[in-house]
Amino acid sequence: MKKLIALSMAFVLALSLGACGGTGNNQNQPTSTPSGSTSAPDESNSTVSGGDVTIGVSMPTKSLQRWNQDGGNMKDKLEKAGYKVNLEYAGDNDIPTQVNQIENMISKGCKVLVIAAIDGSSLTEVLKQAKEQNISVIAYDRLIMNSDAVSYYATFDNFKVGVMQGEFIEEKLDLKNNKGPFNIEIFAGDPADNNAKFFYDGAMSVLNPYIESGVLVVPSKQTSQAQVSTADWKTENAQARMENLITSNGYSPKGKKLDAVCCSNDSTAMGVTNALVSAGYTKEDMPIITGQDCDKPNVKNMLKGLQSMSVFKDTRTLADKVVGMVDAIVKGSEPDDINDRDTYNNGVKNVPSYLCAPVAGTAENYKELLIESGYYTEEDIQ
Ligand code: BGC
Repeated sequence: MKKLIALSMAFVLALSLGACGGTGNNQNQPTSTPSGSTSAPDESNSTVSGGDVTIGVSMPTKSLQRWNQDGGNMKDKLEKAGYKVNLEYAGDNDIPTQVNQIENMISKGCKVLVIAAIDGSSLTEVLKQAKEQNISVIAYDRLIMNSDAVSYYATFDNFKVGVMQGEFIEEKLDLKNNKGPFNIEIFAGDPADNNAKFFYDGAMSVLNPYIESGVLVVPSKQTSQAQVSTADWKTENAQARMENLITSNGYSPKGKKLDAVCCSNDSTAMGVTNALVSAGYTKEDMPIITGQDCDKPNVKNMLKGLQSMSVFKDTRTLADKVVGMVDAIVKGSEPDDINDRDTYNNGVKNVPSYLCAPVAGTAENYKELLIESGYYTEEDIQ
C-alpha cells in the first residue's frame, strides 16, 4: 500500500516537474526522476526514464586525498542511481573557481547542487541564482553559511570528531589519574571552514579542564582557535608553525618534552609530523599526534609509529546519505533519515542534517576498519 502511495506521488510529481520545465524558467530541467521513475515499479534498482537529471557536485580541492575520494564516490553512486553528474574540483581551494563552477552548473540546468564549500560564507550570492531557478542545494560535509537556499546538510558529527581526538589524548596520557604536567600543542583547521570550530570546540571540551587544572600545559600559550588555526588546512602552514614552536619552546627529543599535539585533521598532522621528524624525532619519542580522515600517507605514518590516531570518516556512508537526499529532493519528498535539526544553524536557518558517525582509527584496528571494509587495499598503505 505504502509503495502504491509512493508511486502515485512520484507520478504526480513527475507531471508537475514536467510542467515546471515548460515555464521557460529552466529549459533543461528534467521531467522525471531516476528512482522516482513512473515506469520502474522496483525502486531499489532505479534507472533513468523520461529525461535525464543532472546533479552538480562541487568539491574544494584535488590536492587532498579525502576530496578526491568524496568526489569519486559521489559520482559513482549518483551514476549508479541513474543520474548524470557534473563533478568539478575548485583547483586547489580557489574560491572564485568554485563560484564560477557553481554558476556553470546552474546555467547548465543541474537539478540539485551538492557542494563542499571552501569558504562557508562565500556562496551567498551564487546560491541566490540557484534558488531563483528552483535548484536545491545540499551542503556536503561543510555547512554553507548565510544562505536560505540550502535544503539539507550531510556531514559527520564534527563536534564528536574533536571529542574523540581529545579523549584519545586523555586516555593515552591517562589524564584522569596522572597529575602531569604534560606539554601539549594544538593545531586547528581553516577558520573559513565552519567544521573547524566544531572540531576545535569538541577537542577543547575534553582538554580544557586539564589545561585549567595544570595537568596539561601549553608552553606556547597558544590556545584560542584564532591562534592555533591553519590557513587553508595546508600541511606547509602547519609544518611552518610547528617548526616555529620547536624553535621558540626548545622542544627536542632530548630536551624539553612534547607529550601531545592535538591536530584537527591529517593534513595538519602531516605538517606537524614532518617538522618533528626534521627536528630528529623518531617513533621512539614522537608525541601523541591526532588526525582525521585516515588519508593514505597518514595511515602509513600510523603504521610507522609516527602518528597515533586518525578519526575515520567513511566517505562511502556520507555519499550514500547524500544520494538519498538527492533522491528525495528529485521526488519532491523529504529524506527519511534526518537525524539532527538543531545543531547546524547557518545564520539564516537551522539546516536539517544527517550526521554520520566517526570512528577512531589506529595502527591496532586499521585492518578491520580500512582493509576488511574494502576502503583501502593493503598495497594502498604499504
Ligand atoms: C573536513 C575534514 C578535512 C578538512 C580539510 C574539513 O571540512 O571535514 O575531513 O580534513 O576539511 O580538507
